[in-house]
Amino acid sequence: MTQQPIGVFDSGVGGLSVLRHLRAQLPSEQFIYLADQGHVPYGSRSAAEIVQFSQGITQFFHQLNAKAIVIACNTASAAALSLLREQFDVPFVGMEPAVKPAAGQTLSGKVGILATGGTFASERYARLTAKYAQGVSVWEDPCVGLVPEIEAGRLDSPAVHQILQQALAPMLAAGVDTVVLGCTHYPFVLPVVERIVGTAVTIIDPAPAVARQTGVVLRQHNLLAEADQPGGVRFLTTGAAEPYVRQVEQLLGLDDVGVETAVWKGERLSVIGNP
Ligand code: DGL
Repeated sequence: MTQQPIGVFDSGVGGLSVLRHLRAQLPSEQFIYLADQGHVPYGSRSAAEIVQFSQGITQFFHQLNAKAIVIACNTASAAALSLLREQFDVPFVGMEPAVKPAAGQTLSGKVGILATGGTFASERYARLTAKYAQGVSVWEDPCVGLVPEIEAGRLDSPAVHQILQQALAPMLAAGVDTVVLGCTHYPFVLPVVERIVGTAVTIIDPAPAVARQTGVVLRQHNLLAEADQPGGVRFLTTGAAEPYVRQVEQLLGLDDVGVETAVWKGERLSVIGNP
């Protein structure tokens, strides 16, 4: 059981920002990273659609003998995590915008959250802010158009700069001193965010905490891989293989990455092909 893989998924390449911390903190683990690029972006889709995709991906990971699943996507976690936990007998680690740590460390009492429209519209997010952001002013922006730019590998384009400038300028004017990257794609444009907000603003990427939590969950279930095992990653996409190879290499700084494609047939992901 401990040698079985951990399934990690996102709508696209965003979850690679989580995978890099998982690999660093859990180097003996085998990972399967699935980018559901046939359906990206999730942020503008209905919760019902995202639940359906997340169920199909979980079934697929089950067929591949996954011992645990990391939902490296705030939007999918917001829409589907509670239901998946009820429906599937496998440990899940999900994500949520880091409202709690942001509210805990802001000195100005004003925090900015960058996440997708789907995350902001979810009940899970409403509960999160109701519980942890009391007495703190929260500014939100869905950064429309940013995920497609990042999927296209344009991490420093004029469009990226404009979207982030538009999102962050009102937050800065309001006195926000803490900004949360509440979508796993956004850490890949961190240099642009830093250029805009300057050094006086704290930026929170929850990925290291998610990787730590994954270690905790594996330990709790006695599922940690033996420390002397070499870890690895299988990269899969439901989109096109060729651009995916280049995306993974660019975003993770790797060479000679091999990828496979997974194909949706109705609600099930059932076929894997090597390009
Ligand atoms: N990376 C995702 C998230 O963390 C979803 C982005 C999208 O597909 O809209 O929310």
